[in-house]
Amino acid sequence: MKILHRKADIIDATKAWQSEGETVCLVPTMGNIHQGHLALISKARKSANRVVVSIYVNPAQFGTGEDFDSYPRTLNDDCAAIAAGGGCDAIYAPVSMYEAMHATSITPSGVALPMEGQLRPHFFTGVATVVFKLFVHIPADFAIFGEKDFQQLAVIRQMVKDLDINIHILAHPTIREADGLALSSRNYYLSTKERRLAPKIYKQMQETTALLKKGVEASIALKQAKEKLHSAGFDKIDYYDLRQLDDLQPCNRPTENSRVFTAIWLGSTRLIDNCAL
Ligand code: PAF
Repeated sequence: MKILHRKADIIDATKAWQSEGETVCLVPTMGNIHQGHLALISKARKSANRVVVSIYVNPAQFGTGEDFDSYPRTLNDDCAAIAAGGGCDAIYAPVSMYEAMHATSITPSGVALPMEGQLRPHFFTGVATVVFKLFVHIPADFAIFGEKDFQQLAVIRQMVKDLDINIHILAHPTIREADGLALSSRNYYLSTKERRLAPKIYKQMQETTALLKKGVEASIALKQAKEKLHSAGFDKIDYYDLRQLDDLQPCNRPTENSRVFTAIWLGSTRLIDNCAL
């Protein structure tokens, strides 16, 4: 398992594999590797001959007052976790992705505008810009993203289509703890009490989807869910909506092409999740 820090080295490694007729899959991460990332890496290994995992905490996707400084940086543990989970061919851990005078960004529109785009206006510009740059540093055949960050996946797909990027995007279903909590690096911020409460998010989403499938009107099912989450002890709900998958706009009628999406606060930790119907 090579650990590379320089752009020139990872471009060379990727191109050398491809010149031998091998395919390459990129797994972009911000490190703090958990079972969710290991599932992505394992799917990547099945999808391509070579797997590159990038580890970079991207400052451009954090807003003022967000957790950029406290975000866990655990490169040695991450390399060990990846090796123990079956390994990859190269870990790309650049020190920085931006030159001092960096002045160009990609600002996605469309599926990037609602939900996270509305509440964290800097976020998808930061994500799209760094992912585009990663696609240049690692000109892979495939890249894989988790469905937990469903809107991010949609934004990347839109960017690849709109900018004619020659890469195939793969998705992986959300990996959950036994009690239903979606795996996320931000779960480490939860206190014992908050961690006990957190699985209620997915339970509530399952209850909502069951009600919707039974024909309960969306506005009623969603209102009831929000009330229950508030009385269970969740501090603030940024959104808890039924949305259609093509444009991520809210909808009233549940179909196979809709999901419940939520962003919710537990103390100072913001968790996001989504649930298919
Ligand atoms: O999902 C993440 O961890 C990040 O948003 C990504 C895709 C690695 C870009 O920094």
